[in-house]
Amino acid sequence: MVDGNRRLHGTWASRWTFILAATGSAVGLGNIWKFPYIAGENGGGAFVLIYLGCILLVGVPVMMAEVMLGRRGGMSPINTMNHLVREAGAHPLWRSIGWLGVVVGLLILSYYGVIAGWALNYVVEMASGSLQGATGKESAARFSALLADPQQLLLCQTAFMILTMGVVIGGVTRGLGVAARVMMPMLFVLLVALILYAVNTGDFAAGARFLFSFRYESLSWDGVLEALGHAFFSLSLGMGAIMAYGAYMPEGAPIGRTVVTIAFLDTLVALMAGMAIFPMVFATPGMAPDAGPSLMFQTLPVIFGNMPGGLFFGTLFFVLVTIAAWSSSISLIEPGVAWLIESLGFNRVSANLLLGTLCWLLGIGTVLSFNLWKDYTIAGNTFFDVMDFVTASVMLPLIGLLIALFAGWVMKRDQAKEALSDTSPLLLAIWHWLLRYVSPLAIGVIFVFGLYNKFA
Ligand code: TRP
Repeated sequence: MVDGNRRLHGTWASRWTFILAATGSAVGLGNIWKFPYIAGENGGGAFVLIYLGCILLVGVPVMMAEVMLGRRGGMSPINTMNHLVREAGAHPLWRSIGWLGVVVGLLILSYYGVIAGWALNYVVEMASGSLQGATGKESAARFSALLADPQQLLLCQTAFMILTMGVVIGGVTRGLGVAARVMMPMLFVLLVALILYAVNTGDFAAGARFLFSFRYESLSWDGVLEALGHAFFSLSLGMGAIMAYGAYMPEGAPIGRTVVTIAFLDTLVALMAGMAIFPMVFATPGMAPDAGPSLMFQTLPVIFGNMPGGLFFGTLFFVLVTIAAWSSSISLIEPGVAWLIESLGFNRVSANLLLGTLCWLLGIGTVLSFNLWKDYTIAGNTFFDVMDFVTASVMLPLIGLLIALFAGWVMKRDQAKEALSDTSPLLLAIWHWLLRYVSPLAIGVIFVFGLYNKFA
């Protein structure tokens, strides 16, 4: 059955293509846009530390579990879970892991496409030169003007969704694999250049202090919940994206080492983005670290607008952010697409058109939440805020908990070990212990306190 499905969807060209594709999925708007702004909103250092803890103690074990499940099941997350639940003789309710994941992925993509559209818009804006020499105030005003314009937002969102569907229609080997290989290294190099610029012109010490010094007072339980949710979001966990990618993995790729590499790269990019942004925030009058979703779009254009070669590098930077978002968005839709192909006889084109259109329609809610619907709020939260909170802070950790429990407790130990046979015994033992005890407990505690803190 596994082989049949490898033929149905194809496989990665090599182990490195898997690493790059999974890293491409992980590294995205979550790292460059979201991490700096939520770290800023939650006061910096303490949040960062909790986030790192969540990556290590929850993210890495759950990611290994997802790859393991995907490899053993060899199909879309829905059918993989159906198969593994049957194999383990477990209660059919465990199959919900697959279903929920596909739905949550589409919900995330609905707003992800809108934000990625902003990046696309900034490619054009930077290239036009209109932000050259801009002050912090001017840059902020320009961004507010974009958010106030629903037509412009809709246009950009539509363009980005077309890009996403285009790659996924191309399939695993030629579409997704190739897209990941070229651009990730470029993004990395450009981030290094930005940090060097921030060292020279920004208030580097203030930026580093903000991001890395632990100030207990600035942390709240809902900040901790946000850190946990973001660990899932940033590593692309909890919705079967990594499970689906694991299913396309060629034989003989060591899961443990591969996952640690991916998590390391993902975290590195997030911290680098923070170190490119915060020194400039502290050196630019009128800018604050807690600006929220607008943080990256206000700060970086000021940097680029005032540095030598900024026109070129600024444009290139937003091209690369768009590409990082692109290699992530394809993994949000792929699980659903694979399932429609396997189970309902769709082809890649029709499956993409159906799911892409659904996400696009739902995304209009996010577009409007920044302008016409700005005042329709639930306890101060807009449509976008609610979507973000429900998916990233609630659903991803919840499904992650189910994955940990299923892989750690429900599945036969030998079956899990078999799929991980290329992992060293020590790493395997640590993994199993973390997955059974530490991850579920951490998720449970953070969840209860975080939700209580938010709503009580
Ligand atoms: N990890 C991506 C980012 O940081 C977003 C993403 C892609 C994602 N696939 C996912 C988030 C699956 C959760 C689940 O931008």
